[in-house]
Amino acid sequence: MIAPSILSADFARLADEIAVVEGTADWLHVDVMDAHFVPNLTIGLPVVRAVRAATALPLDCHLMIDDPDRWAIDYAEAGAANVTVHGEAADDPVMLAKNLRAAGARAGLAIKPGTPLEPWTEVLKHYDTLLVMSVEPGFGGQAFIPEVLDKVRTARRMVDTGHLDLVVEIDGGINADTIEQAAEAGVDCFVAGSAVYSAVDPARAVANLRNQVER
Ligand code: DX5
Ligand code: ZN
Repeated sequence: MIAPSILSADFARLADEIAVVEGTADWLHVDVMDAHFVPNLTIGLPVVRAVRAATALPLDCHLMIDDPDRWAIDYAEAGAANVTVHGEAADDPVMLAKNLRAAGARAGLAIKPGTPLEPWTEVLKHYDTLLVMSVEPGFGGQAFIPEVLDKVRTARRMVDTGHLDLVVEIDGGINADTIEQAAEAGVDCFVAGSAVYSAVDPARAVANLRNQVER
């Protein structure tokens, strides 16, 4: 799956920017930042609600915020198909996952590049998506950190041996030069912001990324 991130889109023309990838994307990745968990501020619930009404694409909301225990359910109720919280920020990640599922969303757990996977394996049994960050969360357009692929390989093994049932997603620095190594490590869903929206033809950029991993 390919999930274009609207972080790199033109926010003044958001509906048009989303429409451009509507036919080729699988999920639409929406980066919510609060200037506390990460040193950047982006968008929140009002924009998610507006985007929900503007597209049929499943919304993949990536919450880079403090206190996701308080806020995540609101994003599920706003119509997000997948709500991903950061393990580093959650107080009770198991309860949070249960609440997200009860609200009708897939539950996603994100970990930063420096956060090891092993302490999260029991918690991940309650989740539907694992988001492995391949840049420090906060900004688009950063360079891919290849060291995180070890975590992807470990997660892939756990899924393939039946120990976990997860979509393995990667986020940060995914482009034509990096997507193949991520695919080889076992990623199911690739977030791409600048590689899609800095391209002259974003729809073609999505199709090209897909071709690289489906070969
Ligand atoms: C970064 C965000 C990413 C960002 C990726 O904190 O979580 O989703 O949009 O942008 P690129 O693909 O440009 O690295
Ligand atoms: Zn993201």
